[in-house]
Amino acid sequence: MITSPSRFRLVVLGSAAGGGFPQWNCRCAVCSLAWANDPRVQRRTQASIAVSADGVHWALVNCAPEVLSQIQSVPALHPQAGLRHSPVAAVLLTNADIDHVAGLLSLREAQPFTLLATPSVQGVLRSSSAFDVLAEGVVARREVELGSSFDLVEGVSATIFPVPGKIALYLEARETAEKGALATDVEGEQTIGVELRAGGRRVLYIPGCAAMTDALRARLDGADLVLFDGTLWQDDEMVRAGVGTKTGARMGHMSMSGENGSIEALRQVNVGRKIYVHINNTNPVLVDGSKERIAANKAGWEIAQDGMEIAL
Ligand code: MLT
Ligand code: MN
Ligand code: ZN
Repeated sequence: MITSPSRFRLVVLGSAAGGGFPQWNCRCAVCSLAWANDPRVQRRTQASIAVSADGVHWALVNCAPEVLSQIQSVPALHPQAGLRHSPVAAVLLTNADIDHVAGLLSLREAQPFTLLATPSVQGVLRSSSAFDVLAEGVVARREVELGSSFDLVEGVSATIFPVPGKIALYLEARETAEKGALATDVEGEQTIGVELRAGGRRVLYIPGCAAMTDALRARLDGADLVLFDGTLWQDDEMVRAGVGTKTGARMGHMSMSGENGSIEALRQVNVGRKIYVHINNTNPVLVDGSKERIAANKAGWEIAQDGMEIAL
Protein backbone atom coordinates (compact mmCIF):
# COMPACT_ATOMS: atom_id res chain seq x y z
CA MET A 1 0.00 0.00 0.00
CA ILE A 2 1.24 3.48 -0.86
CA THR A 3 1.85 5.60 2.18
CA SER A 4 2.98 9.19 2.24
CA PRO A 5 4.29 11.35 5.07
CA SER A 6 1.83 12.15 7.82
CA ARG A 7 0.15 15.41 6.98
CA PHE A 8 -3.27 16.77 7.86
CA ARG A 9 -5.51 16.55 4.80
CA LEU A 10 -9.08 17.72 4.75
CA VAL A 11 -11.69 17.89 2.01
CA VAL A 12 -14.92 19.84 2.43
CA LEU A 13 -17.36 17.36 0.91
CA GLY A 14 -20.37 19.57 1.49
CA SER A 15 -20.60 23.12 2.77
CA ALA A 16 -24.34 23.87 2.96
CA ALA A 17 -26.64 23.64 5.97
CA GLY A 18 -29.67 21.36 6.12
CA GLY A 19 -31.59 21.63 2.84
CA GLY A 20 -28.50 22.22 0.69
CA PHE A 21 -28.11 25.03 -1.79
CA PRO A 22 -30.31 25.69 -3.61
CA GLN A 23 -32.88 23.92 -1.43
CA TRP A 24 -35.28 21.78 -3.45
CA ASN A 25 -38.35 23.86 -2.63
CA CYS A 26 -36.90 27.32 -2.03
CA ARG A 27 -37.11 30.50 -4.08
CA CYS A 28 -35.61 32.86 -1.51
CA ALA A 29 -33.42 35.62 -2.96
CA VAL A 30 -30.23 33.55 -2.72
CA CYS A 31 -31.73 30.24 -3.95
CA SER A 32 -33.32 32.13 -6.86
CA LEU A 33 -29.85 33.15 -8.04
CA ALA A 34 -28.79 29.50 -8.01
CA TRP A 35 -31.89 28.32 -9.87
CA ALA A 36 -31.10 30.98 -12.50
CA ASN A 37 -27.47 29.75 -12.76
CA ASP A 38 -26.22 33.17 -11.75
CA PRO A 39 -22.39 33.02 -11.79
CA ARG A 40 -22.20 34.78 -8.42
CA VAL A 41 -23.35 31.63 -6.61
CA GLN A 42 -22.23 28.00 -6.56
CA ARG A 43 -24.37 25.01 -5.65
CA ARG A 44 -23.53 23.25 -2.42
CA THR A 45 -24.35 19.90 -0.87
CA GLN A 46 -25.02 19.41 2.84
CA ALA A 47 -22.22 19.68 5.36
CA SER A 48 -19.55 17.03 5.79
CA ILE A 49 -15.77 16.81 5.76
CA ALA A 50 -13.29 14.02 5.03
CA VAL A 51 -9.98 13.89 6.88
CA SER A 52 -6.84 11.81 6.53
CA ALA A 53 -3.21 11.80 7.65
CA ASP A 54 -1.85 9.44 4.99
CA GLY A 55 -4.17 10.09 2.05
CA VAL A 56 -5.07 6.39 2.13
CA HIS A 57 -7.33 5.97 5.15
CA TRP A 58 -10.08 8.55 5.53
CA ALA A 59 -12.71 9.45 8.10
CA LEU A 60 -15.87 11.39 7.42
CA VAL A 61 -17.18 13.80 9.99
CA ASN A 62 -20.94 13.62 9.44
CA CYS A 63 -22.63 11.87 6.57
CA ALA A 64 -24.79 14.06 4.37
CA PRO A 65 -27.71 12.85 2.24
CA GLU A 66 -25.48 13.54 -0.81
CA VAL A 67 -22.63 11.30 0.41
CA LEU A 68 -22.70 9.24 -2.80
CA SER A 69 -22.14 12.23 -5.12
CA GLN A 70 -19.64 13.65 -2.62
CA ILE A 71 -17.59 10.43 -2.74
CA GLN A 72 -17.94 10.26 -6.51
CA SER A 73 -16.42 13.72 -6.87
CA VAL A 74 -13.35 13.09 -4.67
CA PRO A 75 -10.95 10.53 -6.27
CA ALA A 76 -9.20 9.78 -2.94
CA LEU A 77 -12.53 8.41 -1.66
CA HIS A 78 -13.14 6.06 -4.59
CA PRO A 79 -12.68 2.31 -4.09
CA GLN A 80 -8.97 1.65 -4.69
CA ALA A 81 -8.40 -2.10 -4.73
CA GLY A 82 -10.12 -5.44 -5.30
CA LEU A 83 -13.81 -5.79 -6.06
CA ARG A 84 -15.14 -4.13 -2.96
CA HIS A 85 -13.21 -1.48 -1.07
CA SER A 86 -13.56 1.96 0.42
CA PRO A 87 -10.94 4.36 1.81
CA VAL A 88 -13.64 5.49 4.26
CA ALA A 89 -12.73 3.67 7.45
CA ALA A 90 -14.72 5.70 9.97
CA VAL A 91 -17.64 8.10 10.25
CA LEU A 92 -17.93 10.39 13.27
CA LEU A 93 -21.21 12.23 13.95
CA THR A 94 -21.50 15.64 15.62
CA ASN A 95 -25.26 15.32 16.15
CA ALA A 96 -28.25 13.33 14.89
CA ASP A 97 -29.55 15.98 12.46
CA ILE A 98 -30.88 14.68 9.14
CA ASP A 99 -28.23 16.58 7.19
CA HIS A 100 -25.54 14.76 9.20
CA VAL A 101 -26.90 11.21 9.35
CA ALA A 102 -29.12 10.54 6.33
CA GLY A 103 -26.13 9.59 4.15
CA LEU A 104 -25.46 6.61 6.41
CA LEU A 105 -28.36 4.89 4.67
CA SER A 106 -26.30 4.98 1.46
CA LEU A 107 -23.24 3.40 3.12
CA ARG A 108 -24.89 -0.04 3.24
CA GLU A 109 -23.69 -2.74 0.81
CA ALA A 110 -21.84 -4.70 3.48
CA GLN A 111 -18.83 -2.40 3.69
CA PRO A 112 -17.09 -2.42 7.08
CA PHE A 113 -16.36 0.89 8.80
CA THR A 114 -16.59 2.26 12.32
CA LEU A 115 -19.46 4.57 13.18
CA LEU A 116 -18.60 6.80 16.13
CA ALA A 117 -20.99 9.04 18.07
CA THR A 118 -21.92 9.95 21.61
CA PRO A 119 -24.10 7.42 23.48
CA SER A 120 -27.16 9.64 23.04
CA VAL A 121 -26.68 10.03 19.26
CA GLN A 122 -26.04 6.28 18.94
CA GLY A 123 -29.31 5.79 20.84
CA VAL A 124 -31.18 7.95 18.33
CA LEU A 125 -29.81 5.84 15.44
CA ARG A 126 -30.68 2.61 17.24
CA SER A 127 -34.26 3.78 17.75
CA SER A 128 -34.71 4.12 13.98
CA SER A 129 -34.66 0.66 12.41
CA ALA A 130 -33.83 2.00 8.92
CA PHE A 131 -30.24 2.42 10.14
CA ASP A 132 -30.09 -1.34 10.72
CA VAL A 133 -29.05 -1.51 7.04
CA LEU A 134 -25.65 -0.88 8.59
CA ALA A 135 -25.60 -4.46 9.73
CA GLU A 136 -24.23 -5.57 13.06
CA GLY A 137 -20.99 -7.42 12.47
CA VAL A 138 -20.23 -5.26 9.43
CA VAL A 139 -20.42 -1.70 10.73
CA ALA A 140 -18.99 -1.30 14.22
CA ARG A 141 -20.95 1.24 16.25
CA ARG A 142 -18.74 2.82 18.86
CA GLU A 143 -19.91 5.11 21.65
CA VAL A 144 -17.47 7.91 22.40
CA GLU A 145 -17.77 9.95 25.57
CA LEU A 146 -17.66 13.72 25.84
CA GLY A 147 -14.15 14.87 26.60
CA SER A 148 -12.58 11.66 25.34
CA SER A 149 -9.77 11.40 22.80
CA PHE A 150 -9.49 8.47 20.42
CA ASP A 151 -7.84 7.37 17.19
CA LEU A 152 -10.33 8.27 14.47
CA VAL A 153 -8.40 6.84 11.53
CA GLU A 154 -4.69 6.04 10.91
CA GLY A 155 -2.68 9.03 12.12
CA VAL A 156 -5.67 11.22 13.02
CA SER A 157 -6.80 11.54 16.61
CA ALA A 158 -10.01 13.20 17.71
CA THR A 159 -11.27 14.77 20.91
CA ILE A 160 -14.98 15.48 21.23
CA PHE A 161 -16.49 18.15 23.41
CA PRO A 162 -19.99 19.56 23.96
CA VAL A 163 -21.01 22.86 22.42
CA PRO A 164 -24.25 24.76 23.13
CA GLY A 165 -26.97 23.31 20.94
CA LYS A 166 -30.13 21.25 20.85
CA ILE A 167 -31.47 17.86 19.84
CA ALA A 168 -32.37 17.11 16.21
CA LEU A 169 -35.41 18.83 14.75
CA TYR A 170 -37.34 15.55 14.32
CA LEU A 171 -36.96 14.79 18.05
CA GLU A 172 -38.32 18.15 19.18
CA ALA A 173 -42.04 17.30 19.33
CA ARG A 174 -41.48 14.29 21.56
CA GLU A 175 -38.99 16.10 23.77
CA THR A 176 -41.32 19.09 24.19
CA ALA A 177 -44.25 16.79 25.01
CA GLU A 178 -42.14 14.96 27.61
CA LYS A 179 -40.36 17.90 29.20
CA GLY A 180 -42.77 20.76 28.54
CA ALA A 181 -40.08 22.91 26.92
CA LEU A 182 -37.21 22.68 24.50
CA ALA A 183 -33.69 23.76 25.42
CA THR A 184 -31.88 25.25 22.42
CA ASP A 185 -28.46 26.02 23.90
CA VAL A 186 -27.62 23.23 26.30
CA GLU A 187 -24.20 21.59 26.42
CA GLY A 188 -24.46 17.83 26.28
CA GLU A 189 -24.20 14.79 24.06
CA GLN A 190 -26.67 16.06 21.46
CA THR A 191 -24.31 18.54 19.77
CA ILE A 192 -20.54 18.26 19.82
CA GLY A 193 -17.50 19.85 18.32
CA VAL A 194 -14.51 17.83 17.17
CA GLU A 195 -10.86 18.60 17.66
CA LEU A 196 -8.71 16.74 15.14
CA ARG A 197 -4.95 16.27 15.34
CA ALA A 198 -2.63 14.91 12.67
CA GLY A 199 0.94 15.62 11.62
CA GLY A 200 1.34 18.07 14.50
CA ARG A 201 -1.64 20.18 13.35
CA ARG A 202 -4.81 20.96 15.25
CA VAL A 203 -8.13 21.51 13.47
CA LEU A 204 -11.60 22.13 14.89
CA TYR A 205 -14.84 21.19 13.15
CA ILE A 206 -17.91 22.79 14.70
CA PRO A 207 -20.78 22.84 12.18
CA GLY A 208 -23.43 23.69 14.77
CA CYS A 209 -23.01 25.97 17.79
CA ALA A 210 -25.67 28.04 19.54
CA ALA A 211 -23.34 30.35 21.45
CA MET A 212 -19.70 31.12 22.13
CA THR A 213 -18.40 30.23 25.58
CA ASP A 214 -15.10 31.06 27.28
CA ALA A 215 -14.20 27.37 27.27
CA LEU A 216 -14.80 27.11 23.54
CA ARG A 217 -12.84 30.28 22.82
CA ALA A 218 -9.92 28.88 24.83
CA ARG A 219 -10.07 25.63 22.87
CA LEU A 220 -10.05 27.47 19.54
CA ASP A 221 -7.10 29.61 20.55
CA GLY A 222 -3.93 28.54 18.74
CA ALA A 223 -5.67 26.15 16.33
CA ASP A 224 -4.24 25.85 12.83
CA LEU A 225 -7.72 25.76 11.30
CA VAL A 226 -11.28 26.25 12.53
CA LEU A 227 -14.32 25.27 10.45
CA PHE A 228 -17.28 26.86 12.17
CA ASP A 229 -21.09 27.12 12.07
CA GLY A 230 -21.90 29.54 9.23
CA THR A 231 -25.62 28.81 9.09
CA LEU A 232 -26.95 32.37 9.17
CA TRP A 233 -25.65 35.88 8.61
CA GLN A 234 -28.18 37.28 11.07
CA ASP A 235 -30.47 35.72 13.63
CA ASP A 236 -33.81 36.65 12.00
CA GLU A 237 -32.61 36.03 8.45
CA MET A 238 -35.15 33.32 7.63
CA VAL A 239 -37.98 35.44 9.01
CA ARG A 240 -36.83 38.45 6.96
CA ALA A 241 -36.49 36.26 3.86
CA GLY A 242 -40.10 35.21 4.38
CA VAL A 243 -39.26 31.49 4.37
CA GLY A 244 -39.88 30.64 8.01
CA THR A 245 -40.64 31.79 11.52
CA LYS A 246 -37.55 30.42 13.26
CA THR A 247 -34.58 32.43 14.41
CA GLY A 248 -31.05 31.09 14.46
CA ALA A 249 -31.21 30.97 18.26
CA ARG A 250 -34.31 28.76 18.03
CA MET A 251 -32.48 26.45 15.62
CA GLY A 252 -29.36 26.22 17.80
CA HIS A 253 -27.12 28.31 15.57
CA MET A 254 -25.28 31.52 16.44
CA SER A 255 -25.13 34.00 13.58
CA MET A 256 -22.05 35.38 11.85
CA SER A 257 -22.82 39.07 12.31
CA GLY A 258 -23.83 41.18 15.29
CA GLU A 259 -22.38 41.68 18.73
CA ASN A 260 -23.14 38.07 19.72
CA GLY A 261 -22.05 36.73 16.35
CA SER A 262 -19.12 34.47 15.57
CA ILE A 263 -17.16 37.14 13.67
CA GLU A 264 -17.07 39.27 16.82
CA ALA A 265 -16.63 36.29 19.17
CA LEU A 266 -13.51 35.08 17.35
CA ARG A 267 -12.06 38.44 16.30
CA GLN A 268 -9.32 38.34 18.95
CA VAL A 269 -8.78 34.60 18.94
CA ASN A 270 -5.52 33.39 17.44
CA VAL A 271 -6.46 30.91 14.70
CA GLY A 272 -4.40 30.13 11.57
CA ARG A 273 -7.36 29.91 9.21
CA LYS A 274 -11.10 30.44 9.79
CA ILE A 275 -13.65 28.93 7.43
CA TYR A 276 -17.44 29.00 7.59
CA VAL A 277 -19.21 25.72 6.86
CA HIS A 278 -22.86 24.55 7.15
CA ILE A 279 -24.09 27.67 5.34
CA ASN A 280 -27.83 28.07 5.00
CA ASN A 281 -29.32 28.80 1.59
CA THR A 282 -30.70 32.14 2.82
CA ASN A 283 -27.24 33.38 3.85
CA PRO A 284 -26.10 36.29 1.63
CA VAL A 285 -22.42 35.32 2.12
CA LEU A 286 -23.13 32.68 -0.53
CA VAL A 287 -23.21 35.47 -3.11
CA ASP A 288 -19.83 36.54 -4.53
CA GLY A 289 -19.41 40.26 -4.09
CA SER A 290 -22.26 40.70 -1.56
CA LYS A 291 -21.55 43.17 1.22
CA GLU A 292 -21.91 40.35 3.73
CA ARG A 293 -19.32 38.20 1.88
CA ILE A 294 -16.95 41.14 1.78
CA ALA A 295 -17.46 41.84 5.50
CA ALA A 296 -16.81 38.19 6.43
CA ASN A 297 -13.67 38.07 4.25
CA LYS A 298 -12.43 41.36 5.73
CA ALA A 299 -12.82 39.85 9.20
CA GLY A 300 -10.55 36.99 8.11
CA TRP A 301 -13.18 34.37 7.32
CA GLU A 302 -13.35 32.20 4.21
CA ILE A 303 -16.63 30.75 2.94
CA ALA A 304 -16.33 27.01 2.30
CA GLN A 305 -17.17 25.50 -1.06
CA ASP A 306 -17.77 21.87 -1.89
CA GLY A 307 -14.57 20.14 -2.92
CA MET A 308 -12.30 22.59 -1.10
CA GLU A 309 -9.08 20.77 -0.22
CA ILE A 310 -6.79 21.78 2.58
CA ALA A 311 -3.40 20.32 3.42
CA LEU A 312 -1.70 21.53 6.58
C1 MLT B 1 -29.80 22.34 11.73
O1 MLT B 1 -28.61 22.38 11.51
O2 MLT B 1 -30.36 23.21 12.43
C2 MLT B 1 -30.61 21.20 11.19
O3 MLT B 1 -29.89 20.54 10.20
C3 MLT B 1 -31.94 21.64 10.73
C4 MLT B 1 -32.65 20.63 9.91
O4 MLT B 1 -32.72 19.46 10.29
O5 MLT B 1 -33.15 21.00 8.83
MN1 MN C 1 -27.76 21.11 10.03
ZN1 ZN D 1 -33.48 29.49 -0.15
